[in-house]
Amino acid sequence: MARLLRVLGGWRSYCSKRQQERVSDDFVETLKAVVGEPNVSIAAAVREQHGHDESMHRCSPPDAVVWPQNVEQVSQLAALCYDHSIPIIPFGTGTGMEGGVNAIRGGICFNLTRMDRVLELNADDFSVTVEPGVTHKALNSYLRDSGLWFPVDPGADASLCGMAATGASGTNAVRYGTMLENVINLEVVLANGKILYTSGQGRRFRKSSAGYNLTGLFVGSEGTLGLITTATLRLHGIPEATVAAVCPFPSIQAAVDSTVQILQSGVQVARIEFLDDVMMDACNKYSGLTNAVAPTLFLEFHGSNQGLREQLQRAEEITQQNGSSHFTWSKELEERKQLWAARHNAWYATLALRPGCKGYSTDVCVPISRLPEIIVETKEDLKASGLTGTIVGHVGDGNFHCILVFNTEDADEHRRVMEFGKRLGRKALAMNGTCTGEHGIGLGKRQLLKEEIGPEAMETMRQIKAVLDPKNLMNPGKVL
Ligand code: MLT
Ligand code: ZN
Repeated sequence: MARLLRVLGGWRSYCSKRQQERVSDDFVETLKAVVGEPNVSIAAAVREQHGHDESMHRCSPPDAVVWPQNVEQVSQLAALCYDHSIPIIPFGTGTGMEGGVNAIRGGICFNLTRMDRVLELNADDFSVTVEPGVTHKALNSYLRDSGLWFPVDPGADASLCGMAATGASGTNAVRYGTMLENVINLEVVLANGKILYTSGQGRRFRKSSAGYNLTGLFVGSEGTLGLITTATLRLHGIPEATVAAVCPFPSIQAAVDSTVQILQSGVQVARIEFLDDVMMDACNKYSGLTNAVAPTLFLEFHGSNQGLREQLQRAEEITQQNGSSHFTWSKELEERKQLWAARHNAWYATLALRPGCKGYSTDVCVPISRLPEIIVETKEDLKASGLTGTIVGHVGDGNFHCILVFNTEDADEHRRVMEFGKRLGRKALAMNGTCTGEHGIGLGKRQLLKEEIGPEAMETMRQIKAVLDPKNLMNPGKVL
């Protein structure tokens, strides 16, 4: 709690001082008439709390925050904003990494966390339909006795519809895919209040070639095309057995070569995460681990008891061929939990390296063959720029994060962080990669998106946005 208060305190001083100017008292009263007085707030502290995510982007508070209880209310509220040309900013857990919820043009923040029911579980069809306030951990608790689970696991306990909106992924993507592969259908409220179903109302098929892929369009749209009010998701069977392993390496190259060879050998690895030496050291300190301070892989294997023995043996052989002599593994639930909790707390472990400073976790994804090169170059760049940063990533997907901690009061350091982030994005583009594998474009990567996809694709995105949101009210200033 003390840490949380410190963080909130820090954000207050970092908030922009834009005056509340757009929303009249009358308009606030019309919002209250839809959702009830307790579900609307214009209090400064509440607005500030909703004006930022976990990134370094400066807090921009909305003019008011509303907590709708159902899709009809979301639709009515959106129609009201539309009629008055007031921006709409969808808000889940506020745990994004690229400023996706910052209300840079003011407007109404739609906090969807009070819509938090699991609406329908179809265990035989491996699908579930959830409201936007359900988080990935809450869903897995709900599924506990069903033999099923939902594997997409970003570091934070984010809301599932927020994860759909940002195209999130996490440590299990190498085996189970990202949100893109795990969303079947979405209910979306458009800026004008109309409701659409990306795959048709109530549908929950495994595959389809019917028309344009609207589900894929809304996954990763970062709240700029509509408000996601329910998601139908693909579930997976809980494996008979799970084993986690840890393996330090003499070099980054050896760790990545092992990753490629493990994937090529057909070992069904479920997680394969890379931590550089600085990250490993920070996790040891923050999470009480005792691993060697070296480039390290955290792995997990899912399968039958028999199958796992063979997979483990093959993976260990590969790591030994690449110079590692210390492949340790465990089937014990508590040990596995501790390992993955430490991995998921990588962000907080990095922040703890410089108490009082802020973090910026940037994110790129490259063809896996280019990973060692870009990681080595990134470490050299960190050193040359005089910055503190850790590297951690979903190495099986070619995706990694560089988490920087810096003093926001130090203008020069802030500038070096921004420049470093742009250089890293451009390095990834030069290697035929992408400027973000899972954190999204938000506020900070709009220029990089232009460079990544080129003018024609950019113009097509603008046209799509104009059709769905002609007044540019949905989370304006993001992505495009
Ligand atoms: C992760 O992989 O832990 C998340 O994407 C969060 C982060 O980048 O720090
Ligand atoms: Zn990640």
